[in-house]
Amino acid sequence: MLIHGASGGVGQFAAQLAKLAGATVIGTASTRNHDHLRSLGVEPVGYGPELEGAVRELAPDGVDVVIDLVGADALERSDSLMATDARVGSITDGEGALARGGVYVFVRPSAEDLALLATLIDEGKLSVDVAQTFPLDEASEAYRVLAEGHVRGKIVLTP
Ligand SMILES: NC(=O)c1ccc[n+]([C@@H]2O[C@H](COP(=O)([O-])OP(=O)(O)OC[C@H]3O[C@@H](n4cnc5c(N)ncnc54)[C@H](OP(=O)(O)O)[C@@H]3O)[C@@H](O)[C@H]2O)c1
Repeated sequence: MLIHGASGGVGQFAAQLAKLAGATVIGTASTRNHDHLRSLGVEPVGYGPELEGAVRELAPDGVDVVIDLVGADALERSDSLMATDARVGSITDGEGALARGGVYVFVRPSAEDLALLATLIDEGKLSVDVAQTFPLDEASEAYRVLAEGHVRGKIVLTP
C-alpha cells in the first residue's frame, strides 16, 4: 500500500491500521519524518522527484492500494505505480479517486469507531503522536500551525 502523507495526523493512523491489517506500507513524508515512519514499520519515501523511482524500487510489480491524504497531484503521480486492479482511496481528491474507480472518504462522527481506536491504543497496538498542545483560547494559533501542512501527528487543544 502506498500512503501519501503518512506522517500527518490522518496518515499515521492510516499507516498503523494498514500495518495491523497485514499490509506492507510505503509512506510519503519529508526526510525529517522518515525515521519516525520506520519506527511504525512503514517504508518511507520522499514526495519530491524521487517518489516514483523509490516506490518502483520497493514495489516493482506496483502497489495494490493507494491512499491519498495530500491531494494536488498525488493520484496522478500514482497512476504509473499501481498494479493492475489496484484500489484507490482519497480524503482530499474526490474527483480523482472516483475517476479511478476508487472511494472518496469524508469523516463522520462514530462513537463505535472511536471506541475501537481507543481499545487499540489501550492495547498498545496504536500510538498517537502529539506534536504540540495548545490551550483552547489559542486555537487560532493551533490552526495556523496546522495550516502549514507539516505537523507530524496531532495537535491537541486543552481546556
Ligand atoms: N475528507 C475528510 O474527511 C478529511 C478528514 C481529515 C482531514 N482531511 C484533509 O486531509 C488532509 C490531511 O489531513 P491531516 O490532518 O493528516 O494533515 P496534516 O497532519 O497537516 O498532514 C499533512 C501531510 O501531508 C504531507 N505533505 C505536506 N506537503 C506535502 C506536499 N507538497 N506533497 C506531499 N505531501 C505533503 C506532510 O508531510 P511532511 O510533514 O512529512 O512533509 C504530512 O504527512 C488535509 O488536507 C485535511 O484537510 C480530510
